[in-house]
Amino acid sequence: MRFTEDFMDEIKARTRVSDIVGRHVKLKRQGREFAGLSPFTNEKSPSFFVNDEKGFYHCFSSGKHGDSISFMMEVEGLSFPEAVERLAGMAGVSMPAADPDAARKAAQSKKLINWTEEASRFFQQSLRRNVGADARRYLEGRGLGEADWARFGIGFAPNSFDALKNELINKDAPMQALVDTGLLIEPEDRDRQPWDRFRNRIMFPITDSRGRLIAFGGRAMAKDAKAKYLNSPETQLFHKGSVLYRYPEARKALSDPKNAARGLIVAEGYMDVIALARAGFNHAVAPLGTALTEDQMGLLWRAGPEPILCFDGDKAGLRAAFRSIERALPLIKPGQTLRFALMPDGLDPDDLIREQGASAMRKALDDALPLVDMLWRRELEKEDLSTPEAKAGLKDRIYAALREIGHEGVREQYKTALLERFDKSFGRPAFKPGRGGSTWGRKKGNPPPTSVLKARMGRYDDVSMGRAPREKRLVQAILDTPSLLERVDEIFFELKFDTPALIELQKCIFSFWRDAIAVDKSSIRAHIVDNGYAAHLKLFTSFGKNLSALAMTEAGASQDLRETEWLKEAAAHQELDVADAQRAEFRDRMNAVLQANDREAMKKLMRAAIATKR
Ligand code: UTP
Ligand code: MN
Repeated sequence: MRFTEDFMDEIKARTRVSDIVGRHVKLKRQGREFAGLSPFTNEKSPSFFVNDEKGFYHCFSSGKHGDSISFMMEVEGLSFPEAVERLAGMAGVSMPAADPDAARKAAQSKKLINWTEEASRFFQQSLRRNVGADARRYLEGRGLGEADWARFGIGFAPNSFDALKNELINKDAPMQALVDTGLLIEPEDRDRQPWDRFRNRIMFPITDSRGRLIAFGGRAMAKDAKAKYLNSPETQLFHKGSVLYRYPEARKALSDPKNAARGLIVAEGYMDVIALARAGFNHAVAPLGTALTEDQMGLLWRAGPEPILCFDGDKAGLRAAFRSIERALPLIKPGQTLRFALMPDGLDPDDLIREQGASAMRKALDDALPLVDMLWRRELEKEDLSTPEAKAGLKDRIYAALREIGHEGVREQYKTALLERFDKSFGRPAFKPGRGGSTWGRKKGNPPPTSVLKARMGRYDDVSMGRAPREKRLVQAILDTPSLLERVDEIFFELKFDTPALIELQKCIFSFWRDAIAVDKSSIRAHIVDNGYAAHLKLFTSFGKNLSALAMTEAGASQDLRETEWLKEAAAHQELDVADAQRAEFRDRMNAVLQANDREAMKKLMRAAIATKR
């Protein structure tokens, strides 16, 4: 069976080569590409690359090169039609019925596109003629001059019921074709003639993701027009839920190596996208007057992993943002999320850029909130949270939102993050009774903690995560970066752990520390294995990933930062051993020195707390 070019483009456009290849080859992101070990040879270092933007893979060790289809044929052993069918399934596109009409339809589309282009030419000419005087003045009033009209293909539909119709019929356009493009409105009463849909409007051309002109958006010149903006209706060419305004241009701009953005910018309107492009944000798009659909999110993620959605910071804007969260949760996964930029003072991007300049826009984008933050905000703002019932309700809603997340790993991470926030805001630190009786306290002469310091309570990680996971983190940080011991040995060896295996490891690390000449990861592990504790190391494999995200073990982190982070964790651990009455004070003082980044003072406080415990 022959597949049309359109169909092949469609299924390739809706799937990523990296997803297809990723089922067989472990891929690692490398800039704009993915790299992995060749599936065609037995290589040891990766020379196999996948580029989603260009839609192909290239294997330097075998010289093979191809797209999703050829990969499936080669690696999965499928025939061409089988590969197409499988890819169509993944793209959610139904296979064309053995359709003798397909070729005819494609030819028909071509004609409709051709007439749409003719119409665009007419609109652009009209803008420059006498009839366009008011429109030109309006555009210039909004800062758009002739160069912008050309760059964005802006035109003007005269205030007439047949100006466009006459123009195109004179060029031999069949009336039906003009109705099929949506440019003319067909009366229900068939005796009457069709008339121009767009009248007295500034016209914005809309292309599909391949850059073919398929529709228009028109902004009313008259203040009393029924609709400020009017789009082409759904046609054979135009399905507004799967189109984004200026998508091809924006995608191209984003893939420019000089562009450091991690995704497209999504504004609400045509004028916003144009203002953004003029201010240097050429990678901006807009949906066409509706909330983002799944299809449109798919388009965004094909261009980049982290598109930024711009919304008004007002109530209506937030509601719109919350609606997109709902749509996005089932779809997010690693390398596929959203961020949210809230525009200040109820401005849209166009207003913001005009009133405060491109730098204000830049700042709003830089400050964009991750999805998890917006989700938290959404749940938090639903109701007043002063009663226990309301707090319980919040927790229920958090769980309900978590259930919406399709990807298991992401769901886990969201759960941790959201419950941690919940505990931070509403939880009480776990309290272990009967361990108090300490005499630790503020020495005479030290100033009492001020209210400012009190307000900063909880600056170090809150204690609600529980003792066992924190102990594990403390030990693993030492195992992963043993050089930390040079800074925190005194405290580490004094900390009291609950988990027997960790206590044994602590002792074992101590004997290593006492005798070792070279302190590094492999020798510390070898020592542990030699002492018969190899099994204990398995304790850490289950959450190694979480841990490596912590600054205290992160590859590029400075020793100072690692030490601070480790001390913060240790303080949270120690806090539970501090007598009830002194706990708040301990926290205050710890945060004060932490605030001042005074690690020596942190250690001093820790030692004091540990000493009184004994
Ligand atoms: P806005 O009303 O926020 O307009 O509509 P805007 O983009 O700021 O336009 P200006 O600055 O007044 O010219 C945002 C988007 O919502 C859709 C359009 O896509 C518009 O760009 N819309 C708005 C409609 O489809 N119909 C309408 O009547 C109004
Ligand atoms: Mn506006």
